[in-house]
Formats: sequence, C-alpha cells, structure tokens
Amino acid sequence: MFRTFRKIGILTSGGDAPGMNAAVRAVTRAALSCGVEVMGIYRGYSGLIDGDVKPLGLRDVSNILNRGGTILYSDRCPAFKTEEGMKKAVDTCRRLDIDGIVAIGGDGTFRGATDLTLRGVPCVGLPGTIDNDITSTDETIGFDTALNTVLDMVDRLRDTCESHARCNVVEVMGHHAGDIALQSALAVGATAAVIPEIPFSQDELYEKIRRNRKLGKRNFIVIVSEGMGPDYAPQLTQQIQQNTGVESKFARLAHVVRGGQPTLRDRVLATMMGEAAVDALFDGKSNLVVCLRHSGIVLTDISYALALDRMYKGLLSPGELDAFSPEHIAEMKKTCDERRAAMQKMYDALNRLGL
Ligand code: F6P
Repeated sequence: MFRTFRKIGILTSGGDAPGMNAAVRAVTRAALSCGVEVMGIYRGYSGLIDGDVKPLGLRDVSNILNRGGTILYSDRCPAFKTEEGMKKAVDTCRRLDIDGIVAIGGDGTFRGATDLTLRGVPCVGLPGTIDNDITSTDETIGFDTALNTVLDMVDRLRDTCESHARCNVVEVMGHHAGDIALQSALAVGATAAVIPEIPFSQDELYEKIRRNRKLGKRNFIVIVSEGMGPDYAPQLTQQIQQNTGVESKFARLAHVVRGGQPTLRDRVLATMMGEAAVDALFDGKSNLVVCLRHSGIVLTDISYALALDRMYKGLLSPGELDAFSPEHIAEMKKTCDERRAAMQKMYDALNRLGL
C-alpha cells in the first residue's frame, strides 16, 4: 500500500440506486482494515464544496447493506462544474487531509472524479445507477434491484389486466437507455418493449394485439422506456385502445423503481466493487472506474469509459478519440457492437415469444 493514504473520502452522487449503501459499507470497511480513516461526504459534490463531511467508523456502516437509498444522501451539483466550485472542493480535501476519494454514481459523477484527480485528489469511481447506461460495465449497481421492482409491479398490473381483459402500458425509468424496459419486458412476458435504441412499429403492435385477442388472450403488457419522451407512453395507450378495441390503461412507475432493498446480486456487486476501488486507490491507481466485464471485476480508465459511452450513444465529437490508440478504438467499437448485439437479441426474443 502507498503510505501516502491516511484518510479517504467517499461520496454518492447523481440519482441514488439500491446497493449504494452496500458499496459505502465495503469501501469504509476495506479502508479501515488497512488503517486508513474514512470520511463520509454528504450530498455528493455539494457536500464536498460545503465541507459537509463526517468520519465513518466500522459501526457507522453496520446494518446498511440491506437498505435502499444512500445514507450519504445524493444530489446533482451544477456548482461543481465551475472553477470556483471545484476549487472549494479541493480546499475541503486539503483542509481535512483527504488523500483520495471513492465516488459512486454515473457518468456525471465520473467527470467530477476526473476533475478532482487532475487537481491532485486521486479518485476512483463506482458505477451506481439503476439505468445500466455505463457502457464500460456489463452491469451497474442498482440495475438488478430496479428490474426486480418493475417485475413485482408489473406482475400486479397483469393480475388486474387479466381480470378485466385490458392492456397496460407501463413506463419505466432509464433516462436515455432502454435496458430496464427491455430486460423487464422479457422477464414479465410482455407483448412488446419500446426503447430508444431500436425502431418500433406501432402498426405491428396493434396487429399483434388484435391477432392474440382473437385467439383468446385477455391481458397485454407493453413496457415503454422513459427515453421515448414523457408523452409517448400515454399517447400510445390511447392509440392501442383506438386501434385494437382493447381497453388500455397507463402506469408510470417513475421513482418507485429507484427505491427499495437491494437484491442479493446488487449487494454482492456493490461489495466486490467497493473493495476493488479501495485496493486500486491504495495501489496508487486513480481516475479509474470499477467495472464488471464478462463476470469479472476490472479497472477501466475514466477517460476511456466516458469516450466509450459517448461512442455507444452516438455522441462523439470530432477529434474526441485522438488521444486513444487504434487498438483502444477497435476495442471500444467491439464493446459497442457486443452491447448492441445483446440488446437486439433480447429484443428479437421478446418479439418472438411475447404474445
Ligand atoms: O439516472 C437515474 C434516473 O432515475 C433516471 O432513470 C431518470 O431519468 C432520472 O434519474 C430522474 O432523475 P431525478 O431523480 O432527478 O428526477
């Protein structure tokens, strides 16, 4: 271990996600086991700017592994994007002797971690978001719990749809990513999923509903990702009713999908990732995000992770890849292709198997 580490900070930022507390516990206990003090930074980067920081001991993180939300609280912090905000954050670290930070959140959190690293505070990121929209990791902390919550909610909706011979259109969170919508649709046996990544034919959906209604099917579930825009799912609900004659209801699950006890899978993922973040930091590594790739925990450079994300989302600006080697660019393209292929495969299975 690099002896320079005497005290580290930990924060959660952006939308909260089940499993964040498990990560806070793992980071705290892993650091304490090396004799390094841990400071809990409250309200994400806002707390770092304001100096809203308290020591975390072994017992402070007891009984939080199973709790949703984040005991450190969270927010989105526009002030941190300013030079003044960043200077205040670095000053807090200097004043309190914080030698490094583990930052849990999504891509905005990682950009903040890079800014801090560049200003002399080494940071390691953990991917915590229900959206699963961090391309460098196969799974984010919170995704599995969110899926299971959708499953529970939609199973209930299906019961009443079956009784009344209705269709229910259900909008789920996911920001611009369709992962929650698609995987939950597969798991509930939905008729269709509508996600921003893959073109969708409403006419084919109406036809499918009409055909299966004639064959005696009573309930229909259609899952829509919020990435389609706020009006899409309510309008689709009306159009299904008009075009098929099947009475249709709309439900927006919204933030309910972000709360609740983390699943076993999220607890294990958060714990293993939290431990890996501390080990990386104490090995003198920084500006990394801990990822899950092909079932193993790996460390990925934050700049690589952010560029890969932008490539996958079609957001790259000219010259953005200049700093990367041809091998890295090829690897990024391969990851994007793999991710798209996996999504398409699930989408095709859903269309084939869901009535
Ligand atoms: O990123 C997580 C997420 O829940 C998204 O799915 C959603 O678009 C967004 O956050 C909602 O943010 P807020 O909690 O600020 O309304």
